[in-house]
Amino acid sequence: MSRLVLHERDHPYVVKVGEETLHLCACGLSKNKPYCDGSHAKTLKEGSDLFIYDKEGKAIKVESFYPK
Ligand code: FES
Repeated sequence: MSRLVLHERDHPYVVKVGEETLHLCACGLSKNKPYCDGSHAKTLKEGSDLFIYDKEGKAIKVESFYPK
């Protein structure tokens, strides 16, 4: 089964646990979930456009979900 999951955030959640500061992935692109690995940098130029990322992390702009 496949599914689309929408991630709108372009930076991690920063969580303090005791003395430790954790950076949790909120963009959905980290290869080290639940932790941020810096992959969110790819999302910084998205603007208000919608993208799908393939398994290699290449961004594909979505023009429309509806056939023309
Ligand atoms: S927030 Fe996802 S990799 Fe940083």
